[in-house]
Amino acid sequence: NKNQKIDSLLKVMTLEEKFGQINLLAYYSSQKEIIKERIKKGEIGALLKANGAANNRELQKVAVENSRLHIPLMFQEDVIHGYKTIAPVPLAEAASWDMEAIQQSASVAASEASAAGVQLTYAPMVDICRDPRWGRIMEGAGEDPYLGSEVASARVKGFQGDSYTNGTNIMACVKHFAGYGAALSGEDYAILDYSERDLRELYLPPFQAAINAGAGSLMSAYTSYNAVPASANKFLLKTVLRDQMGFKGMVITDWRTTSNLVSMGVCGDDSLAAAMALEAGIDMDMTSGILMKVGPDLIRKGKIDVKEIDRAVRNVLNAKFDMGLFENPYKYFDEEREKKEILSKENKEKALDMARKSMVLLKNDGDLLPLSRNIKTIAIIGPLAKDKKDLMGRWNCKGDEKDVISLFDGIKNVVGPSTKILYAEGCRLNGYKNNGSDSISKAIEIAKQADVIILAVGEQANFTGETAGLAGLHITPEQEQLVRAIHQTGKPIVNVLFNGRPLVLTEIADNSTSLLEAWLPGTMGGDAVADVLFGNYNPSGKLPVTFPANAGQIPNFYAKRKKQSETGYVDASNKPLFPFGFGLSYTHFEYSKIKLSDIKMKPNGFINATITLTNKGKYTGREVVQLYIGDPVCSIIRPIKELKKFSIVELKPGESKIVNFTIGLDDLYFFDKDLKKTYEPGTFKVYIGSNSSETKEISFELSS
Ligand code: IFM
Repeated sequence: NKNQKIDSLLKVMTLEEKFGQINLLAYYSSQKEIIKERIKKGEIGALLKANGAANNRELQKVAVENSRLHIPLMFQEDVIHGYKTIAPVPLAEAASWDMEAIQQSASVAASEASAAGVQLTYAPMVDICRDPRWGRIMEGAGEDPYLGSEVASARVKGFQGDSYTNGTNIMACVKHFAGYGAALSGEDYAILDYSERDLRELYLPPFQAAINAGAGSLMSAYTSYNAVPASANKFLLKTVLRDQMGFKGMVITDWRTTSNLVSMGVCGDDSLAAAMALEAGIDMDMTSGILMKVGPDLIRKGKIDVKEIDRAVRNVLNAKFDMGLFENPYKYFDEEREKKEILSKENKEKALDMARKSMVLLKNDGDLLPLSRNIKTIAIIGPLAKDKKDLMGRWNCKGDEKDVISLFDGIKNVVGPSTKILYAEGCRLNGYKNNGSDSISKAIEIAKQADVIILAVGEQANFTGETAGLAGLHITPEQEQLVRAIHQTGKPIVNVLFNGRPLVLTEIADNSTSLLEAWLPGTMGGDAVADVLFGNYNPSGKLPVTFPANAGQIPNFYAKRKKQSETGYVDASNKPLFPFGFGLSYTHFEYSKIKLSDIKMKPNGFINATITLTNKGKYTGREVVQLYIGDPVCSIIRPIKELKKFSIVELKPGESKIVNFTIGLDDLYFFDKDLKKTYEPGTFKVYIGSNSSETKEISFELSS
């Protein structure tokens, strides 16, 4: 069996071979021959950035046939929101609140990646983030630990499926453990300091959900906890992760976070760094190579206990076993399947479905949307109107812009033959200097001839993601100038925003009739936008993160703790522009009062909270009904409300449905002043509504 095989391998492995197994290197085709030599010597356990069935088979063959112990390699990759069929960026997917769709999207990514010889993805990224200046907010599920946990679990299930053995699933590597999203001032890699309460309440729950869903591996963060780098943090990696959270999988470091211990100043040289990291609990060293280099000697000199390297190797071999690589090291390398699977019609349809579901309608004055397909003249304006590359977002893996449907093409695909489409770029996408006046005049000219203007503005993909902090949270001044100029024509404007984070949209919203948050929607983005604008799909997304009205409000999130009295700023409101959970529909949903099955609940009991939801508008629509709980009197200061449940309901015009939520003790727990998970009897508030600020409310008593 598995353990016996691992034991017997461990017995015959040299120290070099052991450190080879935990050595994860980046593959560059220019170094193929050198890498092959090292694989032969047993110096590499896994590769990242190597893909393609034929390429990986060739590398695997060296490991299996020419290395002394024939241990197969493992191929890892950043398959974050798609392999070649690119889905919307993860923050966008979270805006769907649709766990089935999110799971399906991850499973498409896994299916394509596995067909191309990949066995593990560095996803899901589950870092909760309340600071939209941080570029990597686009890779997570937003600000809320409950929604974040649901999404984490759905993604793990999607990537991993029921078992790895069918060859179409890949192992999830949940990241970045832990608290990377706390990035101070939104600056990437900034050394942060947050409380243990934040760790337990905010940052750990999505990791726990991913672990419960079976995540096979986990990545330690670039950052620190309690000023100790995550990859050297025994408390995080052993006490919290292994002992408290019950994680049994493989811990991979982030890129060179072992050798970075030296640059971060917690040790003086690579030998000390290697010892610190291994002892803290890392199992695989991503790209630094220092463990391979200095590890064997450190063991020989007694500087590290051999138990530590054995533990790490065991975890790596275990993962390889679970993936079925010992049974069939070539099972993922199937060129036939690779050809059929990648960019298949079905995968594109699923990406389209995900993109439509992720879009959030933020404003729709006078019900301008949906547009009629028979409008006489439409002016499509903006630097993102014909853009393809940016629509894929960052971490677009093997995505190719030639496969992307632009907004312009998407609209052309849906409008009738009698509609005239005018186009102007308006300004550059990445221009920070206001020298776009020529293009702006052309845009104004065509705007004047149109019945409706569709504006496409936002962020270039490189303005989001790793090391892409944004201080002001505005689209570029040139684009803002364009929006203002077009607004002055007095024509109705549908503003479609392509971006990967909450932006300050106060002026943009004022200058638009309708505003659609399309995020960075992936390969099928243009078709998805067109489907929404012309009513083939009634928008149903809800913001997974607060959109501030002003960058100075940051961090602005809904689950703020109560304070002694209401205060704000003297120069601005403290209200967000669009609250967490917000999103409009073309139809109108009416919420009844909340009914409770009882006004008293015993600790071992449950109560049901129900509302009747009615579609009062003209269109069939989907609504994400959200339930929040508040604990108005408690021994610690609690957030006024916290999301605890949600349910997606689809209703035809005039139709009503009773939506039922069961509330139990699990929804009432909190961490007390000693950080013990507990509950306190007394009054609780239940809020149900269409977003975090528009809710009905009712109270019940929890007895002791
Ligand atoms: O997976 C990523 C991680 O999120 C950031 N550093 C590099 C890793 C591998 O590419």
